[in-house]
Amino acid sequence: NLFCDAGSEYGGLQCGIQSSSSSSAKILIKGGTVVNAHHQQIADVYVEDGIVVAVQPNINVGDDVKVLDATGKFVMPGGIDPHTHLAMEFMGSETIDDFFSGQAAALAGGTTMHIDFVIPINGSLTAGFEAYEKKAKNSCMDYGFHMAITKWDEVVSDEMEVMVKEKGINSFKFFMAYKGSFMINDELLIEGFKRCKSLGALAMVHAENGDAVFEGQKRMIELGINGPEGHALSRPPLLEGEATARAIRLAEFVNTPLYVVHVMSVDAMEEIAKARKAGQRVIGEPVVSGLVLDDSWLWHSDFVTAAKYVMSPPIRASGHNKALQAALATGILQLVGTDHCAFNSTQKAFGIDDFRKIPNGVNGIEERMHLVWDTMVESGQISVTDYVRLTSTECARIFNVYPRKGAILVGSDADIIILNPNSSFEITARSHHSRLDTNVYEGRRVKGKVEVTIAGGRVVWENDELKVVPGSGKYIEMHPFNYLFHGLDKADAKYLSSLQAPVKHLKSST
Ligand code: URP
Ligand code: ZN
Ligand code: ZN
Ligand code: ZN
Repeated sequence: NLFCDAGSEYGGLQCGIQSSSSSSAKILIKGGTVVNAHHQQIADVYVEDGIVVAVQPNINVGDDVKVLDATGKFVMPGGIDPHTHLAMEFMGSETIDDFFSGQAAALAGGTTMHIDFVIPINGSLTAGFEAYEKKAKNSCMDYGFHMAITKWDEVVSDEMEVMVKEKGINSFKFFMAYKGSFMINDELLIEGFKRCKSLGALAMVHAENGDAVFEGQKRMIELGINGPEGHALSRPPLLEGEATARAIRLAEFVNTPLYVVHVMSVDAMEEIAKARKAGQRVIGEPVVSGLVLDDSWLWHSDFVTAAKYVMSPPIRASGHNKALQAALATGILQLVGTDHCAFNSTQKAFGIDDFRKIPNGVNGIEERMHLVWDTMVESGQISVTDYVRLTSTECARIFNVYPRKGAILVGSDADIIILNPNSSFEITARSHHSRLDTNVYEGRRVKGKVEVTIAGGRVVWENDELKVVPGSGKYIEMHPFNYLFHGLDKADAKYLSSLQAPVKHLKSST
């Protein structure tokens, strides 16, 4: 075993290049309750060379196989986080977690794949993609990419095709907020939606009215409110509701599926509910911070404490969180992300005199699986099969990597967690694995603990110890035309023929 205690380079994490004797090429997980989104059963799971080879009761193996006893525990697909920002340059700073440290933290928390947002460079998708390829070189778990669209012209339109057909990207995100940096207008949104539709790529939106946010920020500064509470006050839920409704209607106009990221308010959630009820293909992604926190921290007298809760859209007043949980439990919202975007106390302090300069973002990549378990399963709001669906399977389906990911089936990648429902622990910055010096969930006790994480057939988390290998994570290509696109052509044909109908009627009645 060659372990490097690369404290400086890897933020104190133990990183190991494992010799073949301990590489756990063959693993048997014995006696646990194996849970998939559609079914759960008591069974053994046998893994060889990174792939699930068998799922059935009473599997016998030789003594060259590492055996993990999962009696009384849940054996589930590793989490997939659909929304992260690792090594992201944003608001004059770069997030403190890069691909290695953020992924190591994720693995310690039971997440085995994430999808990060490539940010174009001066609008160039190609340059952005190349930069993110470099950022992700040290990956210790599997990852995919979404791509943001920040400007519009022929070149960008052509590059979108290259991204989808050659680079394994099947989703594009449009920021309706962040005026002066990422924000796009409705014309671009419509052009972008049309292009997404033709490529079979999923359109995603950050839904807040950026012009109105800008006005709200001016209003707060004029009123002398320049602390972190000004962040929440300047961009109220109605601005999220407005943009969500607008994006939904424009997606309906183009007839293309839509994915709304970080749904933070009842206002936005109800727009999604209404659209889904009317038959529109809209996916709503709440994030852990929105599900479990409330905005009271933003009024804390200590700046550093308050500033760590600044993210956009803001964490809302108490009540929104419970409503989002209910929406998740009943299928109005479909999967949970984190929007992990970690800035430390020093970085947050850029905005000590002006909340508009506080880098936006909170942690969560390490805490998501535990907090969703504790908040949703432990409270009795959802079943364990639903837990698997909304932390893993649905993400794999939407981004078209199911059942390679998001399931424990013969042939699936061996990304597996063992969760002990009877163990509990406290979340704290002292023991978390992110490089962040704070944690928005500081001091929270959660019931249910991921005791083992297997990623790509390697045991990477066991006995509260991480054994991660830089460079072992694979880029997962994601292909277009996911299930949300199936049948769209029929709806389009019906729409076109409906345009002809009045003409026919005129002819037949004359
Ligand atoms: O505050 C946030 N959410 N930061 C990350 C960028 C984004 O809008 O997703
Ligand atoms: Zn966003
Ligand atoms: Zn985000
Ligand atoms: Zn491919």
